[in-house]
Amino acid sequence: MPAWGALFLLWVTAEATKDCPIPCTCRALETMGLWVDCRGRGLTALPALPAHTRHLLLANNSLHSVPPGAFDHLRQLQTLDVTQNPWHCDCSLTYLRLWLEDRKPEALLHVHCASPGLATHLPLGQLTGYQLGSCGWQLRAPWASPGIWWDRVLIAMAALGLVLLTGLLYAISEPLN
Ligand SMILES: *[C@@H]1O[C@H](CO)[C@@H](O)[C@H](O)[C@H]1NC(C)=O
Repeated sequence: MPAWGALFLLWVTAEATKDCPIPCTCRALETMGLWVDCRGRGLTALPALPAHTRHLLLANNSLHSVPPGAFDHLRQLQTLDVTQNPWHCDCSLTYLRLWLEDRKPEALLHVHCASPGLATHLPLGQLTGYQLGSCGWQLRAPWASPGIWWDRVLIAMAALGLVLLTGLLYAISEPLN
């Protein structure tokens, strides 16, 4: 390879990897995009990830949660390994779960929760909505909702009114016949 070719490759690699998060190692892929390896770095929070990240390895860290929307700017992201982390599986992990459910559903069975109590040791993919917890909103049985009772009372009153009105009209028109 001519010297300028080698220099060009070096420049491309340097350009691509200059955004590499500090504790991780990165490799530019031939197909553009970045391989970002953050395995076993003791991370407790996600590092700032370059937009052209394609493969992201976060296994074997101390991650508890992923902020909602954390991967939204990574349009090329294809691989996401988040195994061997002490995930706190409450409603705030719904983003990660939905992300994996959409793209790598099989991976969900290898991502285990470390807490809270109800979810400990369970794979993230096996948690029900109830175990994952709500983010402030509550699922309520429809018959327990006062709004629905009120609707029914209104409908019953309207029907009763209609019956009374019909009876009244009938009573008024009767003597005329
Ligand atoms: C996990 O990472 C630690 C360093 O944080 C390392 O010592 C250990 O060997 C790694 N374990 C696995 C299974 O990769």
